Amino acid sequence: MKQTLGIDIGGSGIKGAMVDLELGDFASERHRIRTPKPATPDKVAKVVAEIAAHFGSPDSIGCTFPAIVKNGVTLSAANVDKEWIGTDAGALLSKETGANVTVVNDADAAGIAEVRYGAGKGQSGVVIMTTLGTGIGSAIFNNGVLLPNTELGHLRMNRKTAEEFASDRIRDKEELSWKRWANRLEKYYQMLEFFFSPDLIIVGGGVSKHHQKFLPHIRVKAPIVPAQLRNRAGIIGAALHNHL
Ligand code: BGC
Repeated sequence: MKQTLGIDIGGSGIKGAMVDLELGDFASERHRIRTPKPATPDKVAKVVAEIAAHFGSPDSIGCTFPAIVKNGVTLSAANVDKEWIGTDAGALLSKETGANVTVVNDADAAGIAEVRYGAGKGQSGVVIMTTLGTGIGSAIFNNGVLLPNTELGHLRMNRKTAEEFASDRIRDKEELSWKRWANRLEKYYQMLEFFFSPDLIIVGGGVSKHHQKFLPHIRVKAPIVPAQLRNRAGIIGAALHNHL
């Protein structure tokens, strides 16, 4: 049985678990450490190393990061410490853990996992995965192939970015009812639909466990469904990405 350590680096927690890539599920308990403040590259790298040590310091590790990641280098920092911009996260985390660490955008990781094992399994054509959380993350697939770093949470809506208008953080901050939030999301998904003509839209992020409260209010042509792997998608996708 092939097991890989997946680590999900988020704004509030850094979480790891061993992943069974045949089953597409956890092969261990999840281990979580609170994200250090400020979440600078050096501090985060120490936590990643601590998680790696907890799981017996494996040789290869897949990590997510909530920003643009190209060839292991983090190129943006919308909701994270600006010191990450231009950091070779792959090299830094490899050095700190002594493992071969790959780094992938968090929404791309969640999408990879959903398309392989979850709500997008077997779906041909264009699949859009979005994660609704502090920001809005996106991943686009055509016949299972990812177009990385699409950053569709930064499209403009009402003179803001989409994630400043319709993320789960904004729902909370502005105390929007589920219906009012769904109205904002409807505008957002209709825009995505106009641009990309998806065959399936998958909605992830922690809030997707309440999908019955908001998804039925969103009218789009494509089927719009909740993610199946929920908060395991990032870790599972990170581990899978390490083997792609
Ligand atoms: C970032 C994306 C990330 C998303 C979800 C956005 O602010 O720009 O890279 O995928 O948040 O964490």
